[in-house]
Amino acid sequence: MTAATASLRADRRRATPLDVERIRADFPILRNVRVEGRPLVFLDNAASSQMPQAVLDRIVRYRTWEHANIHRGVHYLSETATAAYEGARRIAQRFLNAREEREVIFTSNCTDGINLVMHGYGRKVVGAGDEIVLTHLEHHANIVPWQMLCEEKGARLRVVPVNDAGELLIDEYERLLNPRTKLVAITHVSNALGTINPVKAIVAAAHRRGVPVLVDGAQAAPHLRIDVQDLDCDFYAITGHKIFGPTGIGVLYGKAGLLEAMQPYKGGGDMILSVTFEKTTYNVIPHKFEAGTPPIAEAIGLGAAMEYMTAVGHDRIAAHEHALLEYATELLGAIPGVRLIGTARQKASVLSFYVGDIHPHDVGTLLNQDGIAVRTGHHCAQPVMARFGVPATARASFAFYNTFDEVEALAASVRKVQQLFA
Ligand SMILES: Cc1ncc(COP(=O)(O)O)c(C=O)c1O
Repeated sequence: MTAATASLRADRRRATPLDVERIRADFPILRNVRVEGRPLVFLDNAASSQMPQAVLDRIVRYRTWEHANIHRGVHYLSETATAAYEGARRIAQRFLNAREEREVIFTSNCTDGINLVMHGYGRKVVGAGDEIVLTHLEHHANIVPWQMLCEEKGARLRVVPVNDAGELLIDEYERLLNPRTKLVAITHVSNALGTINPVKAIVAAAHRRGVPVLVDGAQAAPHLRIDVQDLDCDFYAITGHKIFGPTGIGVLYGKAGLLEAMQPYKGGGDMILSVTFEKTTYNVIPHKFEAGTPPIAEAIGLGAAMEYMTAVGHDRIAAHEHALLEYATELLGAIPGVRLIGTARQKASVLSFYVGDIHPHDVGTLLNQDGIAVRTGHHCAQPVMARFGVPATARASFAFYNTFDEVEALAASVRKVQQLFA
């Protein structure tokens, strides 16, 4: 280590408000897993982050002592499970700062939440010749459902372009809004580049023209404090496995008035008030949108994950991750031949890069030999890859449990990869 690097690293350590070693002790997978004989360096958090012991324990407690189907029973276990499930909804309400509990719908993931809005809202309001505004930064989850809707209705997608740093061209966005615009669907944080979009301003501009906004918050919720009332967005979709919770569970927030006017997306048990062969009347929100037995343990586990994040503190999480991102940007940016893809001024802790002309899959495979997990590929965001002229990138994404040592391990391993291909 050079003297300059040592002093930079010492500054960073002083700058972080988190006791990261204490936090890491909460994550058994980080303590116990070794890869190729080395400690795991887990830098694939944007794909799925790890669960702390508190979440694992809560799921085991539910499965061991509280398991029963919810809402339908008058017996002890059903009431216990119902209370835990509905308690998780209240936690999610606080996590997103939703005005009302009934504005919080449990889904199976972010994709499911977006599809719910596409079916329940989009199919009702979008017609031939109408337009839906997306951005060039979207994950496929926030492109494909809208494309399907456009095909069905004869509508079309309009796409907000980005500059070379990966920032949205806001003037272009404003120009795209017109009387045919029926919905704006934007990501809060880009999964491929890390760009944080100015969602509040985007929502305000759409609302000035009476257009509702859906926000894909899958990559924002792990890093930022989310306040749907402050953003004033109409829908906000998140996914559990990226916020230190289980897979198979997500949350869709929607403004009560909109949700009440929407068609249910799935039909079945629990989403009805009465059924005859002639007619079904639907349940009130949010239950209207939760057909069938939901992922109960997963919802309860997600509640525990949200409580864990809140206890760590969103401001501390953001400060630590920002310090990691800056350090990683400096170290990787200083390696000749490494191209950083996505250099927006406002970024979450996601670092996409290309090493010379080495294919990202080779980079990822070689990093794995040093125990380092990064994601390689198009990150389910092919349009943004095309915008930057690459088929794929290697992507390191940091969570609050990552360390400065891990950033250095990544940089050292990238240098090794280069030497191997030299
Ligand atoms: C920005 C963004 N939106 C949506 C998704 C989809 O999340 P899920 O697969 O949990 O539905 C992802 C997952 O990577 C994402 O990064």
